[in-house]
Amino acid sequence: MDTASTERFLPPDTLRSTANLTAAAFDEAADDRLAFWARQADRLHWDAPFRQVLDWSDAPFARWFVDGRLNVAYNCVDRHVENGHGDRVALRFVGEPGDEQAITYRDLQEQVSRAADALERRGVRAGDPVAIYLPMIPEAVVAMLACARIGAPHTVVFGGFSADALSSRILDFRARTVITADGGFRRGAPSALKPAVDAALEKCPDVTTVLVVRRTGQDIGWVEDRDEWWHDALAGASAKHTPQSFDSEQPLFVMYTSGTTGKPKGILHTSGGYLTQAAYTFWGVFDHQPDDVYWCTADVGWITGHSYLVYGPLAVGATQVIYEGTPDTPHRGRWWEIIERHRVTLFYTAPTAIRTCMKWGDDLPARYDLSSLRILGTVGESINPEAYRWYRRNIGGDRTPIVDTWWQTETGAHMLSPLPGVTAAKPGAAMGPIPGISADVVDDDGNPVLPGESGYLVLTEPWPAMVRTIWGDPDRFRETYWSRWPGYYFAGDGARRDLDGDIWLLGRVDDVMNVSGHRLSTVEIESALVSHPRVAEAAVVGAADDTTGQAVVAYVILREAAGRDEPDLAEELRRHVAVEIGPIAKPRHILLVPELPKTRSGKIMRRLLRDVAENREVGDATTLADAGVMDQIRSGMAAAR
Ligand code: WTA
Repeated sequence: MDTASTERFLPPDTLRSTANLTAAAFDEAADDRLAFWARQADRLHWDAPFRQVLDWSDAPFARWFVDGRLNVAYNCVDRHVENGHGDRVALRFVGEPGDEQAITYRDLQEQVSRAADALERRGVRAGDPVAIYLPMIPEAVVAMLACARIGAPHTVVFGGFSADALSSRILDFRARTVITADGGFRRGAPSALKPAVDAALEKCPDVTTVLVVRRTGQDIGWVEDRDEWWHDALAGASAKHTPQSFDSEQPLFVMYTSGTTGKPKGILHTSGGYLTQAAYTFWGVFDHQPDDVYWCTADVGWITGHSYLVYGPLAVGATQVIYEGTPDTPHRGRWWEIIERHRVTLFYTAPTAIRTCMKWGDDLPARYDLSSLRILGTVGESINPEAYRWYRRNIGGDRTPIVDTWWQTETGAHMLSPLPGVTAAKPGAAMGPIPGISADVVDDDGNPVLPGESGYLVLTEPWPAMVRTIWGDPDRFRETYWSRWPGYYFAGDGARRDLDGDIWLLGRVDDVMNVSGHRLSTVEIESALVSHPRVAEAAVVGAADDTTGQAVVAYVILREAAGRDEPDLAEELRRHVAVEIGPIAKPRHILLVPELPKTRSGKIMRRLLRDVAENREVGDATTLADAGVMDQIRSGMAAAR
């Protein structure tokens, strides 16, 4: 393994001297971490200065930039207009059917002001939660910023999630306002969203207002006195709206993410610290310069879309592409065509997408002029060295540094990453913490591992964009992240320190799967399967997959007549999971089994099921209550292959 660590890509000479972040930043942060963060906070406009950088007296509940006051939307929009950049393009929107819009910071200011005023006219006040369920269209950005402007926390629910997933989030968040669209364009056709909202709201009687963006023009259901067109609401609102200032700790948004139990956790992010770190990392890790054209392929429904499509880039006044559709519509060269057409310089995507493009062949990107690119990024899982080399060679022209950014919904912003002007990067390694961040790899007892050894990744000091709590469940917050080793945040990831001291991520050590860079909980999918009337019990594992990183494999015991030949049942169960959670959670394989491997205390031994799913010799099964179970499962799997 350590042979891999000898392969390195040095920063280009030009970047070494000119990059925003140089090696000196590490020394500055090491000298005085909090003073370093105070200087990063100066990237923002504060209406009232903070009196203290960090209050950690009630750990693990942090307060950053104490008593400072700011308006997040003003920082992302208005101040750029006031600084003479009103005509700069903020968003270059590319719709899947090929429609395009260039939205300047001035345009954005007007739209966000109108949307903020429209929300206020409908009674939304600071602190009132708003749910957003939109495709990748500029209105998603406008809606988020409008909420931020009036101090109303938002939760963006990924458009690929089902009505059930939407209603459970709306209920947990206690949202009374929903912003959605008739639909969006996906794979060459309109894909409806509004019917899922209508179904979800049958369970959410407290929702009184639904604003609907018209994107596809398809026929939709309409509830009088509740539903209203977004364009009508904005037309009837004022284009001038004065942003108020809010406390640094004003809740900005909640992002739901899968944990180790069935119920998704509402990760709360607040204003001053979050925006500081989003802006600093966007500026430093991507080395953003004023003439860059940036493109992040993530959906706004994920944390990456929040920090690196909305808040980070806009806080520094960047110009960026936002694309509605999929990489293969109308053809498999679509992404590269967009990069060529808009002269994209900074490109941020996920390893799973890179592996897919690899499968499609080198000749596709080769047809386009990608010479504008200067830095590439990845996020979501470790990038396999093979995919890294392909990305650098075929997309980056063997020129561009790659930043492999490790972070989480909970961390809010980048934590570990190579720096484009500093790091001699190793393919597959997130390398180490960026300036201002403190991380370590520790063993079971919380002691740092030696070089060459593996353990668990921990964050040893608080950071500005850190999760503040789990919405409505502070005990679960403390228990989940802070209880394993006192004083350390446990990320849930295994990691290795190589002989040079650099950090490699090894994947989750808990029951969370990573499918195409999306976090899915085994327990959540098991619960969905068990909610089907024919299912008695289910065990779900993530099996290694060449394209998606992991694939969902489910072992299911039926309620009666188990083993009866029911060829369509597995397909029906897959559809059922798609309805309960969303299509991304659909198991790749469902195997109907007579029994599951359990310990004597009744705990399912997922490790053994993973061995079977990955077609390996089954590991130590001596703690099983019934040793014969694994033989039955193995022969069932062999028959299914
Ligand atoms: C994984 C996405 C290795 C990791 C921003 C983490 C990574 C989880 C990387 C968070 C990376 C993300 N290298 N693993 N560069 N980036 N991960 O909350 O397991 O959707 O805990 O945040 O993704 O996923 P989340």
